[in-house]
Amino acid sequence: MQTHVKPVTPETLAEGGALIRAGELVGMPTETVYGLGGNALDARAALRIFEAKGRPADNPLIVHVAAVEEVAPLVSAVPEAARRLMRAFWPGPMTLILPKAACIPAEVSAGLDTVGIRLPSSAAARGLIRAAGVPIAAPSGNRSGRPSPTTAAHMLEDMDGRIPLILDGGPCEVGLESSVIDATGEVPVILRPGGVTPEMVERLLGSVRVDEHVMSPLAEGDVVRSPGMKYKHYAPKAKTVIFDGAAERVIAAICARYDEAEAAGERPAILGFDEHDFGGRTRISLGSVKRPQDAAARLFGALRELDERGETVALCEAVEATGIGLAVMNRMARAAGFDIVQT
Ligand code: TXA
Ligand code: MG
Repeated sequence: MQTHVKPVTPETLAEGGALIRAGELVGMPTETVYGLGGNALDARAALRIFEAKGRPADNPLIVHVAAVEEVAPLVSAVPEAARRLMRAFWPGPMTLILPKAACIPAEVSAGLDTVGIRLPSSAAARGLIRAAGVPIAAPSGNRSGRPSPTTAAHMLEDMDGRIPLILDGGPCEVGLESSVIDATGEVPVILRPGGVTPEMVERLLGSVRVDEHVMSPLAEGDVVRSPGMKYKHYAPKAKTVIFDGAAERVIAAICARYDEAEAAGERPAILGFDEHDFGGRTRISLGSVKRPQDAAARLFGALRELDERGETVALCEAVEATGIGLAVMNRMARAAGFDIVQT
């Protein structure tokens, strides 16, 4: 199969919508990351998604809608806290886990009795959902275990020859996947941090929990609330280490480790901030230290770049784990297998 990459226009949205209605898969730009979209009400489309991604069948898909009114038929209840979250943060980078209705195939929810629902802010994503006339199930458009794609070119790297069409909506604004929030109970639980932060939820509802596995590795026998937590994610081929602490100490520790690695015949690279001086050592930029949203937007591209350049050791500067920084640290820690040096 040939994979076409086309810019988002009314014509290509209509073409993508028709493909989805016909049971095919389409690369969908969103404000978070590119998604691999298929008809959420069609079990066979869901199976195609799992196959194209190489994704384990027990990891459920997120269902995307174009308007709040489209949620009711997909779920069996909307608790009050969920309603308030929707009103405050949709459209946007937030997925709510809700009890599912019977129309959601078991293939989409991976056999769970809940379903993740998201109303994206991206006009291209909502345009595609409207053109399809059905809700769109879309995991991130990477092959399983690779960083999520934040450009159409990244998605093509992973999906070339597997799907007929990728709609190119330019680079994703947020750059990390949506916050996944379990809204089935009274106190919302953040299962995956993203652009809607714990601080934002707490300010709105007065309470929030962050699942313990967001910043700590799984131990054997741990029960997870979200299947995605079980799987190794975003791991570049380079051995990746994070350095946390005061900037001067972090910079010194990274430079020392870099020189050691180079002396041992490795190819080290630094994922670091523009303001910091690493004395001419190879650096892939995470943007400005003053804007953690820069690191969010750049991290996945930086992880892909490491592999392309054949780097064998990656030394990353930590960001403060508050606001969007928590999402950055969650993804970085997983890429590093939770190898974090306190300087
Ligand atoms: O930003 C995003 O959410 C992107 C774009 C395309 O919308 N999608 C995305 O999907 O990141 P995916 O499949 O790569 O990640 C979905 C995560 C997985 O970790 C999955 O385990 C979790 O959400 N999830 C989905 N349904 C769930 C459910 N019913 N209960 C618990 N976790 C669920
Ligand atoms: Mg994913």
